[in-house]
Amino acid sequence: MEDHWQIPVDGSHSINIFYYPSIDSTNTRAVSLAREGKPEWTVVFASEQTAGKGRINRIWWSPPDLGLWFSVILRPKIRVKSVNLLNLALALTIRSFIEKLVTEKLPENPPRIQVKWPNDILLEGKKICGILLESEITPQKIKYIVAGIGLNVNQGRDDFPADLSSRAISIKMVTGENYVIFRLLTQFLKYFYNDFNQLREKKFNYIVSEYENHLAFTNQYVEIHLQDKVIAGVQKGIDPAGNLVLSGSQGDVIVTAGDLWGFTEGNSDDSDH
Ligand code: BTN
Repeated sequence: MEDHWQIPVDGSHSINIFYYPSIDSTNTRAVSLAREGKPEWTVVFASEQTAGKGRINRIWWSPPDLGLWFSVILRPKIRVKSVNLLNLALALTIRSFIEKLVTEKLPENPPRIQVKWPNDILLEGKKICGILLESEITPQKIKYIVAGIGLNVNQGRDDFPADLSSRAISIKMVTGENYVIFRLLTQFLKYFYNDFNQLREKKFNYIVSEYENHLAFTNQYVEIHLQDKVIAGVQKGIDPAGNLVLSGSQGDVIVTAGDLWGFTEGNSDDSDH
C-alpha cells in the first residue's frame, strides 16, 4: 500500500514523496521508479524496511519509526567523471543537516560530526547515518543516482542489536528528544534540496577541501577492506577526484572504493550502522 504526498521545498518547487508504512527497501523501489522515468527529487520514504540494504551487501536494520529511511532520485547533469564529487557533496550536506539539528539543542557543547570515507556520518566516532548509492551510468551520461539515506533518530542504546550498540548512535541519544519522523523528513528534504543544489554548483576544490575539513581518521592508521584484499596505511586525505589517499609501506596509494576500518583506542570501527 502506497501513499503520495507533495512537500514544498522552496518558493517554486515541490518534492513528490511515495510513502510506504512498510516496504522491503526504499532503494529498490526508488530504482524501479527511476527506471520508469520519474524525475529528479522523487523520494521514497518508509516507516519500516523489511530488507533494508547497507553497503557491501549488508543488511540495514530499519525498524518502524526509530529512524529516517528514505531514498532520493537524482539526475545530475554533470560529467560522468565528476560523480565521485557528487557523492562527497551528498555526505557534506547530510553531515551539516545533522550538525544543525543537534547544535540547535546543544549550542554550548556541540558534538563532533565527521564523515568517514566515502559517505558514512559519524557522531563522536559512532555511526549515525549511512548512505547507499545505486546508479545507472553509461560512459556518456548519468541516467540516475538513487541516494538511500538511513539516519538513526529515536533509538535508545538498548534498541540497537547487540552487535551494533557500541558502534551506533542516534539523534535522540545526543539531544534527549523524541522526533516525529515525518516532520524530520520534511525538515531534512527542504535543507537537503537547497544546500545540495548550492553545493553542487561549487568548484571541485571547494568540495574536496570542505570534505577534508570534516573527514575522520586523517593521519591515522586505517584499513580498506576489499573483496579479496586489505590495503593498509596512514590516511592522508582526498585527491582532486574524490579518491582516498593513503601513505602505505610502498608509498602513496590511491583508493577508489572499499570499506574503511578506522581504529580508535585499539577497537576496530567496522561500523555498518
Ligand atoms: C550503509 O551501509 O552505511 C548504507 C546504509 C543505507 C541505508 C538506507 S535506509 C534507506 C535506503 N534503503 C535501503 O535499503 N538502504 C538505504
